[in-house]
Amino acid sequence: MSDWVTIDAPATISNIGAGFDIFGMALSNPGDIIEGRIIDSGMVISEITGPGSDGIPRDPAANSVTIAANEVLKLAGADFGIEVRIKKGIRPCSGIGSSGASAAGGAYLAHVLTGEKLDPKDVVLCAAKAEGHTSGGIHADNVAPCVLGGFTIIRSYDPFEVYRITPPEDLGVVVGMPDIMVPTSESRKVLPAQVGVKDLVFHVGNASSMVHAMHTGDYGLICRSVQDAVFEPARRKLVPHLAEAEQAARDAGAGASFLGGSGPCVISFFRTSDGNGDDIAEAVKGVFSDSGMGCDTWVTRWGTGCRRI
Ligand code: HSE
Repeated sequence: MSDWVTIDAPATISNIGAGFDIFGMALSNPGDIIEGRIIDSGMVISEITGPGSDGIPRDPAANSVTIAANEVLKLAGADFGIEVRIKKGIRPCSGIGSSGASAAGGAYLAHVLTGEKLDPKDVVLCAAKAEGHTSGGIHADNVAPCVLGGFTIIRSYDPFEVYRITPPEDLGVVVGMPDIMVPTSESRKVLPAQVGVKDLVFHVGNASSMVHAMHTGDYGLICRSVQDAVFEPARRKLVPHLAEAEQAARDAGAGASFLGGSGPCVISFFRTSDGNGDDIAEAVKGVFSDSGMGCDTWVTRWGTGCRRI
C-alpha cells in the first residue's frame, strides 16, 4: 500500500445569476478533505466524518468520491484500487457544491495517484459523471470550478467543453447557509420546462456581460450581471426569507446577493478593498435569526480549486 495522499476539495458557487448549469466559481473555504492510498484492487471507504456524514452512502458504488475516482482510474488505465477517508467540511444539500466537492475531490485524488496523466478537463468530466449519479442529472458547474479553480464556463455538455477565467483578485464572497436542507434533485423539479424569448434575451445579455466582466476584472459589471429571471424566482418558495436576506446583504454593502446553486445558501459579493465582509455576514444571519432560524456564515473569496495538501 502507498502513503496516504490528502486533497482539499473546496466549496463552489454555481449559476451566479444568468449562468444556470454553466457558470461556477471555486471558493477558498470551506471544503472537504479527501484522503486516499493505493490498494491492490477495488474501492474501499474506510471512514466518513463531518457534518451530514450520517446520510452519505458507505457503498463505493453509490458514493460520489469513489464513483469519480473509479472513472479516473478507468480512463487513465490504472491497474490498482483506492482506499479513501472522507472528511466532510460542507454539509450536504447546502447549495455550495457539497456533492460536487466530493466528486471533484475523488476524481482529483485518483488523478494524483495515477501520476496526473489526464487532461484536467477529463478529470472534470469524470467528476461530473459521479455528480450525475447523486444529484438527478449531469451538471458540471460545481465540479468544473472545484477541479480547475477560478470562474468556469461550460460551453457544451456534448461534446464536453469547459473554460476557466481568473476572477479579479479583490472579489470577496460571503456565504450564508440557513438551517434548511434543499436537495438538488428536489430543487430541479420546481424549474419550468421552457423559457420565453424575453427571458432568454435577458439571460444571454447578463451571461455575456458576466464573462466580459470576469475577464476585465470589472467588479461593478460582475455585480450588475448577477441577474436571473427564471431559475431563482422558481426556487424562491424553497428558501424562506431569501429575498429579505439578499436585501439585507445589499444594505450592508454587498454589490450583489443571490441564491447559491440549487439553494439554500445565500451568496453575496463584496470588494475586499472596501471592507472585510463581516457586516454582510451579520446582516444575512440576522434575517434568519429574527425568524428563529439558525444560519452559518463564511466570509471568504474565490479560490484556486482542488489541491494536494
Ligand atoms: N446548476 C445546478 C442547479 C447546481 O442549479 O441545479 C446545483 O448545485
